[in-house]
Amino acid sequence: MSQTDIVSLQKEGKKFKPSAAFIKHAHLKSAAAYKKLHTESIKQPQKFWTRVSKELHWFKPWTKLHEWREPFAKWFIGGQTNVAYNCLDRHLTSWRRNKAAIIFEGEPGDERVLTYTDLHREVCRFANVLKAHGIKAGDRIMIYMPMVPEAAIAMLACARIGATHTVVFGGFSAQSIIDRLQDSQAKMVITADGGYRRGAVVALKRNVDDALKQATGVEHVIVLKRTGTEVAMQEGRDHWWHEETAKVSAVCPAAKLDSEHPLFILYTSGSTGKPKGVLHTTAGYLAGTYLTTKYVFDIKDEDTFWCTADVGWVTGHSYTVYGALANGATTVMYEGAPNWPEPDRFWRIIAKYKVTILYTAPTAIRAFMRWGDQWPKKHDLASLRLLGTVGEPINPEAWLWYHEHIGQKRCPIVDTWWQTETGSIMITTLPGACFTKPGSAGLPFFGIDPAVVNKEGSELPANVGGFLVVRKPWPSIMRTIHGDPERFKRQYFGEIPNVYFTGDGCRRDKDGYFWIVGRIDDVLNVAGHRIGTAEVESALVSNQKVAEAACVGRPDSLKGQALVAFVTLKSGITATPELKEELRAHVGVQIGPIAKPDDIRFTAALPKTRSGKIMRRLLKEIAGGGDVKGDTTTLEDLSVLVQLKADEE
Ligand code: WT7
Repeated sequence: MSQTDIVSLQKEGKKFKPSAAFIKHAHLKSAAAYKKLHTESIKQPQKFWTRVSKELHWFKPWTKLHEWREPFAKWFIGGQTNVAYNCLDRHLTSWRRNKAAIIFEGEPGDERVLTYTDLHREVCRFANVLKAHGIKAGDRIMIYMPMVPEAAIAMLACARIGATHTVVFGGFSAQSIIDRLQDSQAKMVITADGGYRRGAVVALKRNVDDALKQATGVEHVIVLKRTGTEVAMQEGRDHWWHEETAKVSAVCPAAKLDSEHPLFILYTSGSTGKPKGVLHTTAGYLAGTYLTTKYVFDIKDEDTFWCTADVGWVTGHSYTVYGALANGATTVMYEGAPNWPEPDRFWRIIAKYKVTILYTAPTAIRAFMRWGDQWPKKHDLASLRLLGTVGEPINPEAWLWYHEHIGQKRCPIVDTWWQTETGSIMITTLPGACFTKPGSAGLPFFGIDPAVVNKEGSELPANVGGFLVVRKPWPSIMRTIHGDPERFKRQYFGEIPNVYFTGDGCRRDKDGYFWIVGRIDDVLNVAGHRIGTAEVESALVSNQKVAEAACVGRPDSLKGQALVAFVTLKSGITATPELKEELRAHVGVQIGPIAKPDDIRFTAALPKTRSGKIMRRLLKEIAGGGDVKGDTTTLEDLSVLVQLKADEE
C-alpha cells in the first residue's frame, strides 16, 4: 500500500442541515449535544457505557468495562446476557408485545406480519428444534436461506441457546458453502427448498446437497418449505422445518451467556485467496448495534424501519435483525429484487407499509436513477422521514438524487461508514444534530476514535490523504478471525503500530468530516459487495485451461467498481469469446454470481516486476482505459505491455 495513491477526488459542495420539523422530535438535537456525548464517550467511557448498558437486559451485571491486550478486546467483562432475550423477551412485558416486529413481503407478493409475541414463540420453538438435534452452546450452525422471516428466526434461535451462527448469502455457490463449512466446522445447516429472485427460484437446497457431498461434519439439515420446489430429502439427515417445529414446545428460556460468548461468524473477503471468518461476540456487539440504531436512525416506537440488505451480509445482521429488534422497532424484510416485477418495487413497498426510515446502498440508488424518476413518482413516499446509505462512497450526484426524488428534500440522509469487522456504524452524521456534506460519511459515532495517518501512524493534517485507522477499541469490534488469530493480528494491527487499520484510504477536512476514498488493499467493492481479487484469481486458475490470472477494479458508473480479469491460457488453448463465458460461469460456480468478472481479457503474459510480482497498477490503468504512466522498466517482458495495449484497439 502506498499513501501517494490516496487522492480524494470528491469536491466539497453544499452543506445540508436537518429541518426544524425533524430536529423537534430527534433524539439528539444539536451539534453541541453530539459533541458533549462524543467527548464523554471517549474521555469517560466508564460513565458513558454504564448508562447505555442500563438500557439493556443483563442476567448478571458486568464488573469491568473492558480489557485491551492488543489485538484482543473484551467488553462488559463478567456480565451475563442474551442477545435474543434483549431482542424479544424484553419487549413482551410492555405494550410492544403485540407490536409488529417483522413485516415481510415475498417477491411473489405474499405478506406476513409477525408481532413480538409471534416472533418470540417461533424463535423459542426453533431453538427447541436445535436442542432436539443435539445442538449445544458453542456449536456452529450454517444458515443459507432466502430473505424470509425464518432466516431471522434461525439466527435468533441460535443466539437464544448460545449456538454460533454463520450466515452464508444465498447468492454464494456450493463451493463457497464447502469452504465455510470446513472452516467453521458447522454441525448443522439450515436452508430452504428455494428462494425467489427475479421471478426464478434459487435452488438453495440443491447447493447444500452438492456441498455436503464433499464437506463432512454436518449431522442435520433443516429445510424450510418456501417455494415448493421438489428437493431430495436424505433420510436421517434432512428434516422439514414445519414438521420439526410441530413436534416441540414453544417454551425455551434464553441461555445466560457470558458477555464474550461467540454470537456469530461472518465470512468476508480479504487480500488473500481465502475468506476470513469474522467473529463477533455477545454483549459488545449488542451494545454497538443497539446504540447506533437508536441514534443514527433516530428510532422511535412509531417507526417502520427498512434496511434493504440481505441477512447474508453484516448490514442485514446488524440493522435488519439485531439493532432493530433490540430497540423494539418494526423491521421490514423483502425477499426479492428491486426491479421485480417492475422498477418501482421499493417505492410500492414504502407506500404500502408506510416505511419511515429507508437504509440502502449507493449502487441501488444509482440503479434507481438509471431506471428513471417516473418510478418513485408513481407512489406516495410521504411516510419517509429519514434515509441512509452504506457500502461504498456515495457520489454527490446519487446523493442529490436520493435527497430530491426519494427524500423529497424533507428527509436527512445518513451516510454510514463501517465494516463487517466493526460490527456497527462507526462514522456518520447524527440526523438531527449534524449537518451533512454529500459524499462525506461525516463524524465519529460515540466511543469511536478514528484518525487519518501515514504509514508510521502519525496523524496527517486536514485534507491530506492517508490511512483510516481507529485508535481505541470499541464494544462491537471483531474479536478475532475464526481459527486464525495470527492473521487477525497481522491484518488489522500489523500494518500501522498500535491502531486498528481499516484497509481504507481517507482524508479528514477542516470541519473534522471524514471522506472515504475506498479500499487500498487488493479488495474491490463491486456493487457494495466486498470481493477479494485473490479469491477470484484463485477461482480462475482452478480452471484447467487457465495458466495465470490477475484481477483489478475499474471505475463503473453503476457498480462503483467493476471486476476486470487478465488471464493467460495454458499452451494449446485458444482464446475465444465462448471461453470468456465459460470462465465467468466457472467463477460463478466457485464463488457465486456476484464474483463473476465483468470483463475477461486474455493476454500472452502478465506484466511482472523482476521479482515476479504482478504489476497491478499497470493493469488497473489498462483496465480503466487510461494511458500507462510511470516507470515500466521493471517489466519482465516489455512486449507484454505492448501486447496488452494492442488488445484494447
Ligand atoms: C468496506 C466494508 C458495513 C456495511 C457494508 C459493507 C466500504 C462501507 C461505506 C461508506 C464509503 C464505505 C469501505 C469499507 N464502505 N460503507 N458509507 N462510505 N465506503 O461491509 O463488506 O465489510 O465492506 O465498505 O471500503 O471498508 P463490508
